[in-house]
Amino acid sequence: MTLKAAKTWFLRLLPVVLFFICYYCSQFYFESYGGSRKSPQPTVSLCHSYRMKRKLDSLKLNVSRKTELFLKLEDFFWREHLSAEALPYGIKGSELLLLKVLAVTSSYTMPANIESLDCRTCAVIGNGFSIKNSSLGEIINKYNVVIRLNDAPVRGYEGDVGNKTTLRLFYPESAFYNPGVHNDPDSLQVLVPFKQEDLRWLKEILYDEKRIRKGFWKPPPQIWLGRASQIRVLDPYFLRLTASKLLRIPLKPRKQQKPVHPTTGILAVFVALNYCDVVHVAGFGYPESRNQKQPIHYYGKETMRSMKVGFKASICNGKTELWLVL
Ligand SMILES: *[C@@H]1O[C@H](CO)[C@@H](O)[C@H](O)[C@H]1NC(C)=O
Ligand SMILES: *[C@@H]1O[C@H](CO)[C@@H](O)[C@H](O)[C@H]1NC(C)=O
Ligand SMILES: *[C@@H]1O[C@H](CO)[C@@H](O)[C@H](O)[C@H]1NC(C)=O
Repeated sequence: MTLKAAKTWFLRLLPVVLFFICYYCSQFYFESYGGSRKSPQPTVSLCHSYRMKRKLDSLKLNVSRKTELFLKLEDFFWREHLSAEALPYGIKGSELLLLKVLAVTSSYTMPANIESLDCRTCAVIGNGFSIKNSSLGEIINKYNVVIRLNDAPVRGYEGDVGNKTTLRLFYPESAFYNPGVHNDPDSLQVLVPFKQEDLRWLKEILYDEKRIRKGFWKPPPQIWLGRASQIRVLDPYFLRLTASKLLRIPLKPRKQQKPVHPTTGILAVFVALNYCDVVHVAGFGYPESRNQKQPIHYYGKETMRSMKVGFKASICNGKTELWLVL
């Protein structure tokens, strides 16, 4: 992504995110705390006030809530999976690869104990530096569903980010070779297929075939130790709607325009909005642009100087510890 494209993307995204995060924060702040500065608790009582409001309606996204998150093998046998678009927004042209992948993964649902909940509370944990020293770990662990992104570690950071992981969204370039290290044994590894190569990578791993290295912007792990029964493939529906409804970026860029796709972070928030009754986010955002030396993530040493793009807006004025920053 070029610097210009990145900036345009941020600018386009900002108002939307500001709006909906502030909506949540204000609901959260006024309803559950009456203005006190307590830590957020994902209690079911929160659900009742939320459910009435139908979050998605209030966002005027005009999408019907979809709670089947993953692609299923049946989709291919029982009905034609109508898809006019290729990856990342549809599965056109990738059906055979998917068939092979899904034949091995064999399970296509969320864990039954979460599925059966009357009210699902979800936390989406971004990888931003803002979560460092937050001591949110214990609170995060109390949510029914904890969604994490890419190769963000958990070991050694439990106090700030918790140790529970229900879903981890990733793509080959962002995969950690041994998901067992930073996830609990029940975590689902959710592949977000951005391109055909991503499905091919998973197929080669699952069938232990020769790895083809071409087609990635960064070499993905050649060995990946995820368990087949824990693997899911996210329905491209969610990326398509994140792009078209939430970010309003063109699904088909004009010639000479580099394609811009949503990040896994905003995608995860959108998935949570579909699946959960309560959604809280933490650890999103980049450091202030003048703070070039501050690391970007709560782990590692990468800084804004090394990224060369910076944009930040603090939201909710520190009323809660949960915030979203771009
Ligand atoms: C919402 O979507 C439906 C069908 O997709 C469409 O008919 C309707 O006009 C939309 N409403 C708004 C307010 O965009
Ligand atoms: C986190 O806390 C430790 C120990 O209290 C302190 O040394 C460190 O500077 C803090 N880091 C940040 C980013 O606040
Ligand atoms: C998380 O940490 C707590 C406390 O150390 C421990 O009891 C629990 O088993 C851990 N959970 C996972 C999923 O690792």
